[in-house]
Amino acid sequence: MAEATSKFTPRIFSGIQPSGGLTLGNYLGALKRFVEKQNEGIETIYCLVDLHAITVWQDPEKLRAQTREAAAGFIAAGIDPKRSILFNQSQVPGHAQLAWIFNCVARMGWMGRMTQWKDKTAGKNAEAESLGLFAYPSLMAADILLYHATHVPVGEDQKQHLELTRDIAMKFNHDYKVDFFPVTEPVIEGAATRVMSLRDGSKKMSKSDPSDASRINLTDDADTIAQKFRKARTDPEPLPEALDGLKERPEAKNLVNIYAALADMTAEAVIAEFGGKGFGTFKPALADLAVARLAPIAEEMKRLMADPAEIDRILGDGAERADAIAAPILQRTFDIVGMIRSRG
Ligand code: TYM
Repeated sequence: MAEATSKFTPRIFSGIQPSGGLTLGNYLGALKRFVEKQNEGIETIYCLVDLHAITVWQDPEKLRAQTREAAAGFIAAGIDPKRSILFNQSQVPGHAQLAWIFNCVARMGWMGRMTQWKDKTAGKNAEAESLGLFAYPSLMAADILLYHATHVPVGEDQKQHLELTRDIAMKFNHDYKVDFFPVTEPVIEGAATRVMSLRDGSKKMSKSDPSDASRINLTDDADTIAQKFRKARTDPEPLPEALDGLKERPEAKNLVNIYAALADMTAEAVIAEFGGKGFGTFKPALADLAVARLAPIAEEMKRLMADPAEIDRILGDGAERADAIAAPILQRTFDIVGMIRSRG
């Protein structure tokens, strides 16, 4: 473990926005790995970040439904709400409270340099975006540091936000002359840290892409999954005999990485098996594998969503357990900053 986090007990935190349905990108880049971390026996805290979701407009009823659906997705994928803490962010007030303190630690320039902020405002009038969207990374730092989390598994697109989290922790520690917040380690591992669109190998697979064919949704049934892989955009060449041959072939590379991640293999091993074979062979194999891995998750999600009260109960229980960890850390933060806390 890295020096800066060594005095802290290993603890994992990560989050997903319930701003749409979960995709294969969320699954391979995050959720599947959340389950692996849970099963390694490390303390794991997973959060549906509804406060982040509303940095862009969300219909209230849809947000509620998507939060429940995401919770069902976590459980169906293997998160055990007894072993992991699973909750929605807004039920633990410390996230917003610590975010405010971090808003006063972080600098405007740091936020303005975030590529996600730049991407989300590209070609638009940034002045018309919400203040919350600009401050988004500061709330993300609060999510993580509220629990003194030491490790954060994420996909590659979150790397810069995690660097900012480290900067905020270091600036806080420096300004207040304390060694209070850990300098968190990002954990970006596996064959599919950046799953690309099935229609365009230069674009990230995303829940907000207008084309449903560009992504696999965790709720897609077996036929839909198979059909989307069969129709995925590729080039006409067979798969190369060595990994190097995928360099200039983003669509082919993406499908190989997806196969590798779903099968728990390396991309090298996939190429060793399929090198020289055409997509007429590879796509059906990938579709079968994806259906075998994903269709049972969709089925289980459906079953879980039939009982929303039980999902709400699980989220409430998770929030209570999260709050119990967060409260003393928040209390100490207020002390460090110089706030009077005398309500008993
Ligand atoms: P979000 O909701 O966009 O995505 C959730 C997780 O899924 C990963 N991911 C992907 N991985 C590989 N390929 C893709 N195409 C792909 N799309 C999404 C993301 O990297 C992420 O790990 N800001 C975060 C949510 C957040 C958070 C946190 C994460 C809020 N607070 C604290 C970690 C710790 C976000 O928007 O993720």
